[in-house]
Amino acid sequence: MKKILVTGGLGYIGSHTVVELQNEGFEVVIIDNLSNSSIEVLDGITAIPNNQPLFIQDDLKNKNSIQDLFKKHPDIVGVIHFAASKAVGESVKKPLEYYHNNIASLIYLLEELEANNVRNFIFSSSCTVYGDADSMPITENTPYKPADSPYGNTKQMGEEILKFTTNATQIEAISLRYFNPIGAHVTAEIGELPIGVPQNLVPFITQTAAGIRDQLSVFGSDYKTHDGTAIRDYIHVVDLAKAHVVALQRLLRQGNKSNYEIFNIGTGKGNSVLDVIKAFEKVANQKLNYKLVARRPGDVTEYCADTSLANLELGWKAKMTLEEALDSAWKWQQKLIAKN
Ligand code: NAD
Ligand code: UD1
Repeated sequence: MKKILVTGGLGYIGSHTVVELQNEGFEVVIIDNLSNSSIEVLDGITAIPNNQPLFIQDDLKNKNSIQDLFKKHPDIVGVIHFAASKAVGESVKKPLEYYHNNIASLIYLLEELEANNVRNFIFSSSCTVYGDADSMPITENTPYKPADSPYGNTKQMGEEILKFTTNATQIEAISLRYFNPIGAHVTAEIGELPIGVPQNLVPFITQTAAGIRDQLSVFGSDYKTHDGTAIRDYIHVVDLAKAHVVALQRLLRQGNKSNYEIFNIGTGKGNSVLDVIKAFEKVANQKLNYKLVARRPGDVTEYCADTSLANLELGWKAKMTLEEALDSAWKWQQKLIAKN
């Protein structure tokens, strides 16, 4: 069994990817400092049949910890790097904390990959690197716009670090630029665990439907879209997790066409906020209490991925529908309520 290190593996996307990796026969070591996750996620992962990852609670900002980890696990053949701080608004208030966590951790990891002759690296990037793109759908060649936040800037910087590092070392990397991940595992054993008031749309919807929040505010109804609300490319987190497995397999079989590759990971289909609300009302069979309010500063009209490169090169395509994603998110929310 090939051993893979998953950083941030108890987080939202990491935990779903750990499960898909193990389903495909990989052995998984997770490192997570629990700064934005809970140890209970490990119980959720292990409750899914055939899932027994090794968990190390530690911080990637400690270079010594990463050194020790590679000493203890010299058979690691690849790293999927999810660990990062990800709250856009918080990053504006605490830029140095974000640069430190997201950039220092990446550099320390890459140094240890180089020192230990590990070749394969997958990086969590984001559609946020494109900023307010001039045309839709967005291809991988769409140029970056200046970042709106330190968070977005750390993703741009991370990609640049990888571009130059893969040129000069044995490391080969793939950056996956995620569009908007939503939903939960079909077993409802793992899902998204927002801390405090959710900033993202789908957890806010499910918490409103569950009565935890009074009302959803729909930010902006005067966008130039079919119904005036903003459009995003919402992708089921399990489809996204599977993209990591195929990207890793591409590196392991040396099927990559250059030392550093980038792929958009979305569905290729845009949905407005009102489309999402309507789909949710259908799957949950209830009306959602919402109101139209002013735009949220910093939001763009539309993000929608052109996924042809990932379809062609990775042989990967998002399979699950918006309704399936919302249904899984709703089941996860109900499970959380039942537990607490
Ligand atoms: P998450 O916060 O749920 O998971 C990140 C995990 O990393 C958490 O468990 C956290 O405890 C851990 N972590 C953070 N800093 C660490 C450190 N220094 N040492 C060890 N562990 C650390 O986030 P997520 O939604 O699963 O996102 C995973 C990655 O994908 C992040 O890099 C994020 O920027 C990127 N991304 C996320 C989204 C999204 O919508 N969720 C979109 C695009 C890109
Ligand atoms: C945000 C982040 C982005 C990150 C993504 C996924 C910002 C500026 N961007 O994207 O970097 O990759 O999350 O985690 O924060 N909405 C409402 N009401 C709400 C919440 C959201 O109407 O209560 C709307 C938003 O205005 C937007 C859409 O729903 O049009 C999606 O919002 P959200 O889930 O926060 O994702 P993004 O803003 O696209």
